[in-house]
Order: sequence, then C-alpha cells, then structure tokens
Amino acid sequence: MKSDNMFDYYREQAVLPTYGRFQSAEDLQAHERSRRSLFTNRLHLPCQIFSDAQLIEFGPDSGENSLVFALWGAWCTLVEPNPKALPVIEEYFQRFNLKDKLVGLVPSDLKTLAEAPDFSARLFDLVVAEGFIYTVKPESLWIEFFSRLVSPDGFVILFYEEAYGSVVEILSKVIHHNLVRLTGLSSLEVAERTFKTKWDSIAHKRSMRSWVMDVLDNPFVRLRYFLEPYTLCAQMRTAGFSLYSAWPPYKDGLSVEWFKKTATPEEELEAVQSFISRNRLSHVFARKHYLTRSDAIIDKPLRALVTSLDSLVDKLGPADLGTCNQVLSQIADLMRSDVVMSDPADRSATIETILSVQRILALLSEGAALELIEFCNRDPAFIRSWGTPAHFAVFRKA
Ligand SMILES: C[S@@+](CC[C@H](N)C(=O)[O-])C[C@H]1O[C@@H](n2cnc3c(N)ncnc32)[C@H](O)[C@@H]1O
Repeated sequence: MKSDNMFDYYREQAVLPTYGRFQSAEDLQAHERSRRSLFTNRLHLPCQIFSDAQLIEFGPDSGENSLVFALWGAWCTLVEPNPKALPVIEEYFQRFNLKDKLVGLVPSDLKTLAEAPDFSARLFDLVVAEGFIYTVKPESLWIEFFSRLVSPDGFVILFYEEAYGSVVEILSKVIHHNLVRLTGLSSLEVAERTFKTKWDSIAHKRSMRSWVMDVLDNPFVRLRYFLEPYTLCAQMRTAGFSLYSAWPPYKDGLSVEWFKKTATPEEELEAVQSFISRNRLSHVFARKHYLTRSDAIIDKPLRALVTSLDSLVDKLGPADLGTCNQVLSQIADLMRSDVVMSDPADRSATIETILSVQRILALLSEGAALELIEFCNRDPAFIRSWGTPAHFAVFRKA
C-alpha cells in the first residue's frame, strides 16, 4: 500500500464513495427522512438539536449528509481532503438553496488540522466524522482534537467500522481475494459472479462497482484499522466524554435501576462495557444474542476468530483455518445452550450461518473455486447473513 491515508485511496478512484444519489429535490427529501429517523429514533438526536448549531463535519465526501444537517438549520464547516469532492459539495449546496449554511469548506484532512495550533478559535456544538475516522491513527490524535473543538455539552457523532461486527464483511473479503487469486478473473468480475444474489437480496443504494471499491478492494477495510467499542468508550471517557447513544445500542437497555440513582462516570462506563461484551454475538451476526452470564463472555475467542479470518484475506494458512473452525464450533455450542438469550429463530439462523461459513472455509481450502461461487449464490444462510460492520456512537462532552 502506497499511503497510510484513506483519502489518498479515494483520490485515486474514478468514483466518489458516496456520490450519486440526488438527481432531484425528492431524492434529498427521501435521504432527509431516512436520516431524521436514524438521528431521532436510534441516536436520540432530534433535528431541533441541529437548528442554529455550529457543526463541523470531517470527511463529508460529496456532502449528501451535510445537506441534511444544513436543512435542519446547522451552520456547516466541512473538512474534505479529496479535491474531487469539493466542487460537488459546492454545486449541491447551490442547487438546493443552502449556500448560506455552508460557512466553511476546508480542503484538508483531519490530522493536518489537528496538528495546526490555530485551526479554530470557535467551539462547535456538533462534531461529525462518518465513514473514515477508524482509519486515523492513533485514536488519541482525533479524540484529543475533538475534545478541544467541541463546546461543553456538545456532541461528537462517529460512524465507524467495528471489529467484531465485521466478521461477515471480512469473510466476504476472504472469499473475494482468494477467488481472484484462484480464478485469475478481475476483482469486479469475481464480485459480480459471487455476490450478485446476496447483493440483490437487500435494498442497496449504490452500485456493485462502488461496493467493490469501498469494501472488497479497499485496503483500509481491514482489522488493523477497525475500532472496538469497549476500548473506544474508555478512551473517550478519559478525554472527558460520556456515551450518549449508539447504534447498535451500547447502553444496557435491560436495566431497571431506580431512576433517582445517579451513576458515577466510572459506574456508567463499567455498565456500558459489560453490556458491550455480553452483546458481542449480536454484533457478529446482527441478531439478538445476549450472554446471560458475565463469566461466559467470549471476547478472547472472538478476537482470535476475527484475527485469523483477517489473515485468511492474504493467505489461506492452515492454522488460521483451524482457529476459525474451532471458535465457530464453540459459538455454535453456546447457541445451543441456555447461556445465550435469543429468539429461537435467531438462534437457528445463526447456527445455519456458522455451518455455512465452515462450508465456505472448507471449499476455499480445497481450492474449489467454481463450487464456492455456486454455493455463495445458492446458500440461503450465506445470502441472509450480514453482521453489523458499521456502528454509530454519539458522545457528549461533560
Ligand atoms: C466513505 S466516505 C464517507 C462519506 C460520508 N461521511 C458518509 O459517511 O457518507 C469517507 C470520506 O472521508 C474522507 N477522509 C478520509 N480520510 C480522511 C481524513 N483523514 N480527514 C478527513 N477526511 C477524510 C474521504 O476523502 C471521504 O470523502
């Protein structure tokens, strides 16, 4: 890989990762409705919070989410390092009569600004970083920067690739990269032949070509970059933030503690971390799977699974194949026990997913390319399994 910056990867691509949705006012309205539902119902940030707020967004790409923030009344400062995106942003704000809401368009990247001593004298009510923040290392760089930028009681809104929720996504990369090696076909051709049925089974908004660029070929969609919420919440806490909301939820929604009891920040963090660990299997399979006992937490084996799976993208090593199979069997055993609280249908679906993944790994180790392509287009368990690779987390500055 030439650069360690995700924006350099995007700069080299012919297509922008998110552009292409808005041909008309109706397209923007549909996106606004979907974001309104996400922000109000799942993240508990109703549109009123954005009204007249000072907002800074890093990595807006073509600015389709930014337009919605502007529609809700936010004063938008946008920081985007990809020069191809800048005229698109300006054209969008002009076309939708929101030009006065675009108070700044900064052609730079986060790290450069974080290291510039005099970037902004102004504090922001809302700091937004969706879709790339996990690639900026070390995390302390942007956490400390955001802590300096945000006003007291202000919010930081993150959308990031999560390590355990990415098991199924990493599996897609394992299949894809190894099939490219085995067949000698192009990346796009392998993707179309292998994933078309799965791709067409969901209401996707973008082309397969864009998904291939943004996920399957993207060198930044790898475990070494992904964040993990147990650690993220602790890092944010140290910088003076408390978790406000998340999707999937990180707070213990099952708790019935007396409402007058005020938890200390430490107790709050502990409760969040315990819930995250006991709920990890839900992230892996995107189904409700909650561990009924804290001594059954399987973070370590899950870490081994995701680490070995990620290694299989580059090389089909027997030790990694063995680790994956062993941990998957361990999860299947848990699923059959009362240690996992789950809907019966979710339990069965996950056991089927596990068997499907084990079959895929067996076909890969046999080098059975055509059989694997056929399996991926036919196996219902593979087709309906997605995981929760992308998480939202909102933090509030104390
Ligand atoms: C996948 S797109 C996401 C676009 C939009 N935020 C969304 O979620 O739909 C990632 C964007 O982040 C930008 N980006 C990548 N690294 C960045 C960095 N270090 N600082 C600021 N922007 C960055 C890219 O240029 C690209 O526009």
